[in-house]
Amino acid sequence: MPNQKHVHIKDVTRRFQVNGNTITALDSVSLDIAEGEFVTIVGASGCGKSTLLRLGAGLDTGHNGNIEHAGKVVKGPSLDRGIVFQEPRLFPWLTVERNVALGLQNSGFTKDEKRQLVTDQIELVGLAGFEKAYPHQLSGGMAQRAGIARGLVNRPDVLFLDEPFGALDAITKARLQGELQDIWAREQITMILVTHDVDEAVYLGDRVVVMSPRPGRIKEIVPVNLPHPRERTSNQLAHIRNHVLEVLESTTATSKARPVQAKPGPQKRRTTAAVSAVPIALNAKANRQTLYSSTEI
Ligand SMILES: Nc1ncnc2c1ncn2[C@@H]1O[C@H](COP(=O)(O)OP(=O)(O)OP(=O)(O)O)[C@@H](O)[C@H]1O
Ligand SMILES: [Mg+2]
Repeated sequence: MPNQKHVHIKDVTRRFQVNGNTITALDSVSLDIAEGEFVTIVGASGCGKSTLLRLGAGLDTGHNGNIEHAGKVVKGPSLDRGIVFQEPRLFPWLTVERNVALGLQNSGFTKDEKRQLVTDQIELVGLAGFEKAYPHQLSGGMAQRAGIARGLVNRPDVLFLDEPFGALDAITKARLQGELQDIWAREQITMILVTHDVDEAVYLGDRVVVMSPRPGRIKEIVPVNLPHPRERTSNQLAHIRNHVLEVLESTTATSKARPVQAKPGPQKRRTTAAVSAVPIALNAKANRQTLYSSTEI
């Protein structure tokens, strides 16, 4: 029976001081994530998604409340927790294999074990043959693969991903989503992924956490009870996606600067049939623009 509180977030509040003003980035956020679960997080810009990931990963500890990983309070970064950012953050003067090996710094592995882990990881993300390449010799998708390899190389049992595919074209993104899902299924790593892409959130997540802004709170947790890997164009997925979009729209509807299409008239209301008739990946950008245009900061 997997630990249902593998990552345990209880009543977490995070405030920042900016120019004498207090910003409540997160307000009493509670979330339990089971071992091996894939949780995705969506929400308007500024609602605290990255703040929550950074706290979970131990990169920030200035919160009130309790965050535990595998029963231990998170007090700082740990080799058991990997993190992947939107941009791959590779060092330009290091080869792919040396960039990936950075994820093993301070680990207890021997030199041979490290070499094997790096080789395995590079192969796992489909970069075999590019071990000696430098970042400028890689495409955006390949560089992001290297970033994912670095996040995974230490065999963390939780991987935090902050918009890892946000900068990629639709085809590369779809391919990497599939590969990430394969890795998740094979390695049984708990994954927590922040995204602005609702299609990605419902395609990958066992549960989709929808956050609302100002202050950052969890508005609703939407289960996606469909087996992995999913059929992207299935009606069931489209139905869940529509629900997530409705919840998201409700979180932005009270913002001062309201998006022009926040409350679509009857002729614009999405239906499952209408959505499923259009490739989901192509819809994503337009929907994001509608949803987030008023809340970007
Ligand atoms: N280090 C910081 N100092 C001051 N304010 C911060 C800091 N980090 C985050 N914030 C504030 O906390 C709030 C939440 O920021 P966060 O980066 O978590 O949002 P987000 O949901 O990840 O947004 P986006 O979707 O645009 O990435 C914002 O109002 C932001 O200005
Ligand atoms: Mg963010």
